[in-house]
This record gives sequence, structure tokens and C-alpha cells, in this order.
Amino acid sequence: MNENDILPLNIVLIGFMGSGKTTVGRELHHRLGYPLVDMDQMIEQRVGKSITAIFAEQGEATFREMETAMLLELALSDPQQRIISTGGGVVGSEENREILKRMGYVVWLDAPVKVIAERTAKSRSRPLLLDENPEEKIRDLMAKRQPLYQETAHLKLDTAGLDSKELATGILECASYFFSQPER
Ligand code: S3P
Repeated sequence: MNENDILPLNIVLIGFMGSGKTTVGRELHHRLGYPLVDMDQMIEQRVGKSITAIFAEQGEATFREMETAMLLELALSDPQQRIISTGGGVVGSEENREILKRMGYVVWLDAPVKVIAERTAKSRSRPLLLDENPEEKIRDLMAKRQPLYQETAHLKLDTAGLDSKELATGILECASYFFSQPER
């Protein structure tokens, strides 16, 4: 694909914490020149607190409300040619899943539990993984979320063993094909 060709809609990255959404998002941003929106960062800027502080002071349910509000705002505002990196739990509500599917080409970045555990081991900024047994927590959450990622995504990519450049190339080729289909 000629990367100067403009894709008509957003590319939305979903997947578990540590699946590579931020890194792949940056690569797609460099290649396409579309603005990169990191939903967690936008929420942090808007609220003036870190995700960790929001969870600790206001609770997860409030964070989820903020997440849905941010998703709606993005779905209804221009430009609709963005790279959107979501938080790993965004697929938890049916409302969010419906919005995501309508926003553009949804890519699920997947990785095995062990790989996720290694990649997130040093992170102190993911409140859900500040657990006595993070690997067990990842396994539990992953089992619940996998069918939700599956039903939301147009494309699933296993990120283990591929670098962000290779992943971005695959995503751009598949997105270009997807957007070229009249009946999608
Ligand atoms: C969460 C993932 C985080 C962040 C919050 C909750 C989740 O985003 O939204 O800590 O429920 O999986 P990343 O996937 O970018 O780490």
C-alpha cells in the first residue's frame, strides 16, 4: 500500500494492558501522520490526576464513566482520521463496544499471559495489576475479556515476536483493504 493514501476513518487499537497499543500507535502515527490519541492520557489531562489517583480516590466505576464519556466525545468529534489507543478495559461495556465498532477499523493487539506479565512487571501505574499475584490477575481478566476483544475487533494480531514496525505494516495493509470494501 502507498502510505500516502489516506484511509477514510480512525484506526482504533484495543487489547490488554502491555499488549503494545501505545508503541504501535506511535508507529502508525509516524507512518500515516494522523493525530495519535491516547485515551488514558486524555482522561488524565482532563481530570488533572493520574489513572492511579482516579482509581484510588474515585474508584473504578467512576473511571469507567469517564472512559465512556471520552469515547463518545471522540466518536462525535472531528477529525475522524485518528489513531486511537484505548485502555485495556474499554471493551467491558456493551455501549463502548458498539461505539468502538462504529469508529473505524478496530485492531486487537493480543499477547500470551506470560508475555503480558513480563511486559507489565515493573509498571506501578496500572492499579488493576497492583495485586499480590499479578500473573493470576492477568489470567483471570484476560479470560473474561478475550471474547469481548474478539467480538469488537476487525483484526486480531499476536504481538509476541513482532516489532512495532512489522505490526504497523500489517495493520496498514489490512486497514487499507477493509476501507476499500464498499459493503462493510
Ligand atoms: C486498564 C488499562 C489501563 C488503564 C486502566 C485500566 C484495564 O490502560 O485504562 O489502568 O482495565 O485494563 P492500558 O491498557 O493502556 O494499560
